[in-house]
Amino acid sequence: MSSYHSGIELPVPGTEQIEHSSLLIDAILQHIQSSGGVISFRDYMQHCLYQPGLGYYSAGSTKFGAGGDFVTAPEVSTLFGQCLANQGCALFAQGLQKNIFEFGAGSGKLCVDIIRHLNNLGIDWSGYQILELSSDLQQRQKMFIQQQLSPNDLNKIHWLSNLPQHFNGLVIGNEVLDAMPINVVIKNDGWVELGVAFNGQKFEWVEFSRNSEAVQRMRQIDLHNSLAEQYCSEVNLNYEPWFKSLQQSCDKAVVLLIDYGYEQKQYYHVQRTTGTLVCFYQHRVHPDPFIYPGLQDITAFVDFDAVAEAAENAGFSISGLTTQAKFLMSNGLLKLMPADQTDEILQLEMSQQIKTLTLPGEMGEKFKVISLQKDLNLEITGI
Ligand SMILES: C[S@@+](CC[C@H](N)C(=O)[O-])C[C@H]1O[C@@H](n2cnc3c(N)ncnc32)[C@H](O)[C@@H]1O
Repeated sequence: MSSYHSGIELPVPGTEQIEHSSLLIDAILQHIQSSGGVISFRDYMQHCLYQPGLGYYSAGSTKFGAGGDFVTAPEVSTLFGQCLANQGCALFAQGLQKNIFEFGAGSGKLCVDIIRHLNNLGIDWSGYQILELSSDLQQRQKMFIQQQLSPNDLNKIHWLSNLPQHFNGLVIGNEVLDAMPINVVIKNDGWVELGVAFNGQKFEWVEFSRNSEAVQRMRQIDLHNSLAEQYCSEVNLNYEPWFKSLQQSCDKAVVLLIDYGYEQKQYYHVQRTTGTLVCFYQHRVHPDPFIYPGLQDITAFVDFDAVAEAAENAGFSISGLTTQAKFLMSNGLLKLMPADQTDEILQLEMSQQIKTLTLPGEMGEKFKVISLQKDLNLEITGI
């Protein structure tokens, strides 16, 4: 069964899901009331994704893969993790300590693929640490990883509740930046930050501030006043504090962040008049964040110039930015095809996976890899 929301056809959630969403709506309403009738969109998105026990990432639905709402690269193919492991291997050969720290490990698939490939390559890796905000996802990761890896591997995998201290090694985050709550701004006789209110029936956009940090950031971006009236977009204010804490937690590190996004010129292109905020519900993509709170993913593209600036301000050096296609190709993607040419089905499946990961119309160019280093100057393959 499906229903229409502002012209968007979406499957109808079950009774239990609707009840779950109602609990989150109540919690957000209370927050709106105690905040004088309006909250920032960033606050709203934070609740929708991370409210303990109720938010999209904090509660128990299947998110990743065919039975969920969207597909990430590790779910598309094991080859993705194998290429990252190849990159790890090249860095370990240059002296990087053989530790990996992964942000937001999703289903746990990337961790399993990386570790299996490192083992196959004969790398004696020291440790794999995971920082996952969602306790529900943590449980799922633990179950999946325990089923897949040997006790010897499991002894070296640890879940952290905070950033590590004095970390030395490789830091990885796939689609973590896009899951950080953003602020929404619109040009309406000057830049205005939009917030969320409740009109008795549903959540709605309202003016939030004309002088907030998000507004000031957007004025800087639109310094030459080239964006038109009613241009609407987002800014992400999480990068600065996030990179600062990450920098402080590492002694020597290479950081690889993979995500969909643009350089600033494309992000705030004059023709991108409605921004990049999108929602995913059961593989339907639409722009309305007020539908099914807690049941759908809400996300925005990454401004890689803002990421680089925040990382540099925090004390990282930027090794470069490249497309996912170039990064994976440079890290041996095509050589990972199985040698057994007789298994035609497997060959076909893997060819399809390679296409999804690398073709420009698929994930190949929309997704980019940015590489940072702390207190190191190592060569990053393909960047
Ligand atoms: C879109 S999912 C990607 C999951 C997985 N990396 C993958 O590629 O399948 C975003 C993940 O990032 C996590 N996340 C978001 N912000 C985070 C943060 N500041 N620290 C750690 N994890 C975070 C979420 O809880 C979620 O697991």
